[in-house]
Amino acid sequence: MSESMYDIVILGGGSGGYAAALRGAQLGMKVALIEADKVGGTCLHRGCIPTKALLHAAEVADMARDSGHFGVNATFEGIDMERVNTYKDQIIGKLHKGLQGLVGHHNITYVTGWGTLVAPDTVEVDGTRYQGRNVVLASGSYSRSLPGLEIGGRVMTSDQALTMDWVPKSAIVLGGGVIGVEFASVWKSFGVDVTIIEALPHLAPNEDESLSKALERAFRKRKIAFKLGARFSSVTQDDSGVTVSLEDGSTLQADILLVAVGRGPATANLGYEEQGIPMERGFVLANERLHTGVANVYAVGDIVPGLQLAHRGFQQGIFVAEEIAGLEPATIVESGIPRVTYCDPELASVGLTEKQAREKYGDAVTISEVNLAANGKSGILGTAGFIKLVGVKDGPIVGVHMIGARMGEQVGEAQLLVNWEAYAEDVAPLIHAHPTQNEAMGEAALALAGKPLHAHN
Ligand code: NAI
Repeated sequence: MSESMYDIVILGGGSGGYAAALRGAQLGMKVALIEADKVGGTCLHRGCIPTKALLHAAEVADMARDSGHFGVNATFEGIDMERVNTYKDQIIGKLHKGLQGLVGHHNITYVTGWGTLVAPDTVEVDGTRYQGRNVVLASGSYSRSLPGLEIGGRVMTSDQALTMDWVPKSAIVLGGGVIGVEFASVWKSFGVDVTIIEALPHLAPNEDESLSKALERAFRKRKIAFKLGARFSSVTQDDSGVTVSLEDGSTLQADILLVAVGRGPATANLGYEEQGIPMERGFVLANERLHTGVANVYAVGDIVPGLQLAHRGFQQGIFVAEEIAGLEPATIVESGIPRVTYCDPELASVGLTEKQAREKYGDAVTISEVNLAANGKSGILGTAGFIKLVGVKDGPIVGVHMIGARMGEQVGEAQLLVNWEAYAEDVAPLIHAHPTQNEAMGEAALALAGKPLHAHN
C-alpha cells in the first residue's frame, strides 16, 4: 500500500530529523517524519538532556559539601539515585511532550516504526510506503564499544549509565573524551572513586592543548584519577566488580566500567547500501550541501562525518529543509560550531585551536589569555580558569577557548566573534556588564587589541 506523495520523507526523529521536519512544515511542505523510538532522539532521551541533569545534580551536591565556605550551614548526606532519576526523567518528559505538541501543531505525518529505504524516494515502515520528492536520512548514532569488549552487567555505555539506580563506590571510565570526562565529573561529585583511561596523551584531546592541561590540573585537584597514553586490553567481571587490563600489563579494579570510546553512525539495516547511498566506515557521505549524490536524498546529523553534536544536527536539518524549498541557505562552517563539555570545570570553545591557527596562519597568529582569577564574578563563584582568544594579526578572531565554571554560557558571544569574523580592535570598545564572568571575554578582546585594562604590563 502506498500513501500519498510527500515533499519530504525524513528517516529519524532526533535533533537533525525533527529540525528538518519542523522547518519543512513551516515552509509549507508536506512532511512525513519516521521514528522507531521517541521523537527527540539521543539528545533528549539518552544524551545531552539527561547528562546535563545529572551534572546539575552533581553541582548541587558539591554546593552542599562546600556550603561552609560561603558561610551557609548545610550538610551533604548523600545521593538518592531514585530521586535524581525522577528529577532527570521529569525534565525529559516535559520536553518530550512539548516536542510531540510541536510536531502535531505543524501537521507533520508522524510515523512510529522502523523505516527502511526501499527506493531512493521511498521509506517503508511495516509494509506501508512513504514516497517523497525528497528524502532526508537522519538515523543518528549509537554508543560504540571496542572489538571483544562486550556490554552487559557491570560493563556499560552511557545508555545504561544514565539509567543506573545505584551509586557505585568506584568506576573506571574508558575514554577521556566528552562523555568520559562528563561522567567522571558527575560520579566524583556523587562520591565515587573514578579512574579515567585515555589512549591519547591528554584528556579532552580534541580541545586546544591549554584547555586539556588545565582540565587535567583541575581533575587532579578534584582527585579524579586518570591514566593518559594508556590503552585498554581486556575486562572481566563477576559479582563483586570489574577487572580491567591495560596493554602495559597493569590491572585496575572497580565496581563498574563505563565504555566511552566514541559514537558510531546508526546506518545498519536501513537499506542505505542497497540504494547506492555512498558510505564510508558506516557513515553516509554527503557534500557541503548535505546531498548524498543519489536522487534527492540528503543526510544530516551524526551519520554525516564531523562533530556529533545536537546543535550541528539542528542546523543541518534547517539547512536541508531550506535547500529543498529553494532558499539557497549558506553552507555550514564546521569549525564555527560551538563545543561545550559540561564537566566541572566546564570547557567551551569555537573555531581553531592555537595549533590549527598556527598551521594555517603561521607567525601572524596572536594570542590573548585572561585568567578568571582577576574576574570578580568568578571569584564570587569560587572558580578558576581562563579565556583564550586566538587571533590573526590585522585579521579576525579565529578561535575562542574557555575553561571554568559556567563557561558554556559564554560560548554564545564566542561563536559570534568567530563566525562574524570580528576584529579585536572593533569589539574591544564594546561594553560587558559588571560584575559578570562575561567581562573576561571583553578583557580578552582588549588584550588582543593590545590594550589590556586589568594587567600588570
Ligand atoms: P570522543 O571521541 O569524544 O572520546 C572518546 C575517547 O576515547 C577519545 O579520546 C579516544 O582517544 C578514547 N579511546 C578510544 N579507544 C580507546 C582505547 N582502546 N583505550 C583508551 N582510550 C580510548 O567520544 P565520546 O566521549 O564517547 O562521545 C561521543 C560523541 O558524543 C562525541 O562526538 C561527543 O562530541 C558527543 N558528546 C557531546 C557532548 C557535549 O557536547 N557536551 C556530551 C557527550 C557526548
